[in-house]
Amino acid sequence: MSQTTPDSAAAEPEGPEETEEPEATRRAAGVAESARANRGWWDRNADEYQVEHGSFLGDDRFVWCPEGLDEVEAELLGPAEELAGKEVLEIGAGAAQCSRWLAAQGARPVALDLSHRQLQHALRIGGTFPLVCADAAALPFADASFDLACSAYGALPFVADPVLVLREVRRVLRPGGRFVFSVTHPIRWAFPDEPGPEGLSVSASYFDRTPYVEQDEAGRAVYVEHHRTLGDRVRDVVAAGLRLVDLVEPEWPAWNTSEWGGWSPLRGRLIPGTAIFVCVRD
Ligand SMILES: C[S@@+](CC[C@H](N)C(=O)[O-])C[C@H]1O[C@@H](n2cnc3c(N)ncnc32)[C@H](O)[C@@H]1O
Repeated sequence: MSQTTPDSAAAEPEGPEETEEPEATRRAAGVAESARANRGWWDRNADEYQVEHGSFLGDDRFVWCPEGLDEVEAELLGPAEELAGKEVLEIGAGAAQCSRWLAAQGARPVALDLSHRQLQHALRIGGTFPLVCADAAALPFADASFDLACSAYGALPFVADPVLVLREVRRVLRPGGRFVFSVTHPIRWAFPDEPGPEGLSVSASYFDRTPYVEQDEAGRAVYVEHHRTLGDRVRDVVAAGLRLVDLVEPEWPAWNTSEWGGWSPLRGRLIPGTAIFVCVRD
């Protein structure tokens, strides 16, 4: 039921002390446990993630989601011609494809990620902007450092306390700044994470917020995803002191024949797969 990872085989941990395939379960997982598990998971799986999704993402495109919505058309951060000179924080940047596109528009991005290995892929692809290895829940920047912030499936699906992250983003944004973030559409939680017809029948309660956890034989979490309902996400944004100005549910376009884990043309035509929140720091 992992909603953002390439496939369950990719979740298999490597290393001498973790030889068994992790067990997928639903149980509580706090802030520290989730961050530790996900840092390790992304470090171990970054190479496979970039091999599997790198060509769809493109080295210097800004793709918001598996539906393929591109910032060039969507302009959720504002008109591209107004990005020049803007200081932009990308959270959960992975290989920093979005930051590379922002830099090409004349913006001054900073790409932040929890995973050192993901950022090594950013280095491999190249760019002259800063890369920062840090947790989105404790941003290592002064107040009011950025004009804009963005996150394409970075951090927010994985953290136990999204309000912590949203408050941090509000703190580092200048007044009038925007934060736009995409996450798995909450309705997907109720369905099996399968691209085929089996992914079209409700199998779990949409209202059950118990995290999805993969754990090793000692019961240590090695991967965690947290579910919020749509209402929870709206309340989180408001609780952090941000103003929600749009909620985008990208429709599956006819040109996109690619599958990405549980995202597929079949499901995409029928149910939303991504929710993009457009917020302002007043
Ligand atoms: C699904 S990937 C998205 C990466 C990139 N935006 C893309 O579209 O390929 C999620 C990213 O979020 C990062 N991440 C997870 N939890 C995080 C946290 N607490 N703080 C910062 N980054 C985090 C992971 O390391 C991973 O690179």
